[in-house]
Amino acid sequence: MFYTVIGTQWGDEGKGKIVDWLSSKADIVVRFQGGNNAGHTLQIEDKTYKLNLLPSGIIRGKKCIIGNGVVLDPWALDEEIQKLSDQGIKINPDNLMIAENICLILPLHKIIDELNEKNKGTEFIGTTKKGIGPAYEDKVGRRSIRLCDLQNEEILRKKISNLASFHSYRLKHFEKNIDETDLFIQLKNINKKINSYSYPTWRILNEIGKKNETILFEGAQGALLDIDFGTYPYVTSSNTTSGQIFAGSGFGIRKDHKIFGITKAYTTRVGSGPFPTELKDYMGDYLGKKGKEFGTVTKRKRRCGWFDVNLVKQSVKISGIDDVILTKLDVLDEIKEIKICVGYTVNDFKYDYLPSNENLQNNIKPIYKIFPGWQKSTFGIKKWSDLPKNAKKYVDAIQNMIETKISVISTGPERSQTIDKDNYLGSI
Ligand code: GDP
Ligand code: IMO
Ligand code: MG
Repeated sequence: MFYTVIGTQWGDEGKGKIVDWLSSKADIVVRFQGGNNAGHTLQIEDKTYKLNLLPSGIIRGKKCIIGNGVVLDPWALDEEIQKLSDQGIKINPDNLMIAENICLILPLHKIIDELNEKNKGTEFIGTTKKGIGPAYEDKVGRRSIRLCDLQNEEILRKKISNLASFHSYRLKHFEKNIDETDLFIQLKNINKKINSYSYPTWRILNEIGKKNETILFEGAQGALLDIDFGTYPYVTSSNTTSGQIFAGSGFGIRKDHKIFGITKAYTTRVGSGPFPTELKDYMGDYLGKKGKEFGTVTKRKRRCGWFDVNLVKQSVKISGIDDVILTKLDVLDEIKEIKICVGYTVNDFKYDYLPSNENLQNNIKPIYKIFPGWQKSTFGIKKWSDLPKNAKKYVDAIQNMIETKISVISTGPERSQTIDKDNYLGSI
């Protein structure tokens, strides 16, 4: 059986916790897009683990794959491996495999990311400045240095020279340059540390798939940050929707695949761009504080707002989501009246989806339905029957409006603080 965990909003829905929860039954966990712009938090008893590049299954000792759809900063990977080793997690080529055809993020990509952000003035995207966008640009521009290129000095020198000449004009303008010899030495040095993780991972995955082992695909970011379907240009530079699983890992088996959409019981966003239900008042601050909504990667304050049915309904369709897992219900515990956005009006027209036009997106007026709060703690509740009546009504209302089953509800950051309504863990 194959499982995928996908974010249905603007990221940070709690994917890390859910991957950890599901990974107890998985044989292998796979990342297939994004890079170290992701920040996935796992709370295991009194220990907190924050993962950027490594699949969350690594914490439970599962085999993990970083697929070819990811862009890999090898120095960031080395640091993350070191950080986790210091926390007692063992990482070696037996439990970590990296696609040999993965494209690398180089120091120059981080410089360009930073320059792009500075020079767009007020129009900035608010990226994580990890070099993600510029690295994907070089990938589709067919200029990337890939992990496999580090094995051959002649090819590596040629590729470095090609990249340097492509980027030199722009970098010179900012009085920066690429020292080709230095980059070559840096790459040769880092290769000594990561070379042993390099595999044709697509083959391994397809072999495992045929043996009926359980594979868990871990999405990063969320559907509204998708390069095609998100709030373009305020998006990340990869496809974050489920279509990317196959291209980003080389896994071709399509049967018995269940796709879970991870959805926060309200909405958050880090960085710039349209956010129809954003709360710029005390309630937004309240959700931020209660939900501890600070970016895992950049420590920025996350913008907060009410649950938006249009967005999640759209994400569910685009990713072919089978079940929704609703997280952070406990954050709403004390609120007297909770709003859900059930549709939009833009210039007096009604919309039941997010229009692509940026101008329309900026002029959305949400239509709200008010739900009475439950004003009781749901923190840590593990049984559906223990939820307060109004909390059940809130979850059921969302389920009806997004037209998708909510089969799991998360009531706290720890793995055990989960309501497994359909006994998934029992049945997986
Ligand atoms: P991800 O990027 O989707 O993996 O999410 P992040 O890790 O960036 O942010 C989610 C945050 O919410 C983390 O700090 C989690 O520990 C925490 N979290 C996850 N589920 C719950 C929940 O149900 N309740 C509460 N209070 N916190 C949660
Ligand atoms: P996880 O996996 C939330 C956002 C950035 C910025 C935009 C582009 O933890 O859910 P990038 O550096 O990717 O070019 O930035 O995307 N962003 C995320 N927001 N969660 C994430 O990942 C994100 N990864 C990127 O804040 O708005
Ligand atoms: Mg995150």
